[in-house]
Amino acid sequence: MATDMPALIDRYDRTHTDLRISVTDRCNLRCAYCMPPEGVTPKSHAEVLRFEEIERFVRVVVGMGVRKIRLTGGEPLARKGVVRLVEMLARLPGVDDLAMTTNGTLLAEHAKALKAAGLKRLNVSLDTLDRRKFQQITGRDELDGVLAGIAAARAAGFEKIKLNTLAVRNQTEEEVVPLARFARQHGLELRFIEFMPLDGNAGWSDDRVLTGGEILESLAAALGPLEPVEAAGPATVYQFADGIGRVGVIRSVSRPFCERCGRLRLTADGQVRNCLFAARDWDARAVLRAGGSDEQLAELVRDAVSAKPKCHGTDDGEFLRGDRSMHEIGG
Ligand SMILES: C[S@@+](CC[C@H](N)C(=O)[O-])C[C@H]1O[C@@H](n2cnc3c(N)ncnc32)[C@H](O)[C@@H]1O
Repeated sequence: MATDMPALIDRYDRTHTDLRISVTDRCNLRCAYCMPPEGVTPKSHAEVLRFEEIERFVRVVVGMGVRKIRLTGGEPLARKGVVRLVEMLARLPGVDDLAMTTNGTLLAEHAKALKAAGLKRLNVSLDTLDRRKFQQITGRDELDGVLAGIAAARAAGFEKIKLNTLAVRNQTEEEVVPLARFARQHGLELRFIEFMPLDGNAGWSDDRVLTGGEILESLAAALGPLEPVEAAGPATVYQFADGIGRVGVIRSVSRPFCERCGRLRLTADGQVRNCLFAARDWDARAVLRAGGSDEQLAELVRDAVSAKPKCHGTDDGEFLRGDRSMHEIGG
């Protein structure tokens, strides 16, 4: 096992301790902000990393100080056998935090097994509690399945489940308060993520971003004052003054958190990315499949970290559109 390699510190002194792994580019929902409406041609099985390859990659980066792993996608629970991958990663010494971001549709059948396999935390993406609107946004009539998934996760003993809501103007405004009430009622932490230019149909524009500031204002107006509690990674987190519930806003567009970003990504097809908006990949799969050494893999990751830009925006704060949409990179 590769251990005691130098930490992953980039040119701007950011230490990388956080890896997001997309385990598949396939998804059973069709959210327009994430996937092109005409659908996508999924990667073939041969293109996608095998569990053993992912495990080896994780062992190497853990040797360089990565401590937090999040499985995402596509829809991670759509990858056959993903519970086995959770088990494999949970047993690796040095993996302190193992989490998953899921759309929740398949959670009811997997929640117990995921917990038993060693998954520590769950984020469930949910943009609305209205069945018709859910269908409009996702292209599927699956709201009941997601709600059953959240209930199953709570019953399986997952604590601090987070709900992720994408904040899109003319889509999210009416959802903010009902979702906050639901989260407060069920002991969930709600996070709003500003819409980023990673949609599959290039429909993003900055006036379609419902900002964290606007969301906080409507929450305070409807449910009472909010007090800041902490800056947890990219989110600014607030607590309702009545003590019931927390809400976080991730202002990736209106207030990018690049200066604190210690994240790396591994795509389903084994490409390392140093930023969601990266213009290039580093091909870990090629190294893995050519019989490369741990040191060669580590070198590739170090190269990706050294090349990380100061921020993903241009100097005046505008985003540059990356070459892949969200479902391909892993949110
Ligand atoms: C890409 S999904 C992958 C995991 C899983 N299928 C899910 O739905 O949570 C992860 C997160 O990315 C978010 N997302 C997708 N497209 C986005 C965009 N254009 N801007 C910001 N967040 C986006 C989704 O809302 C979701 O919470």
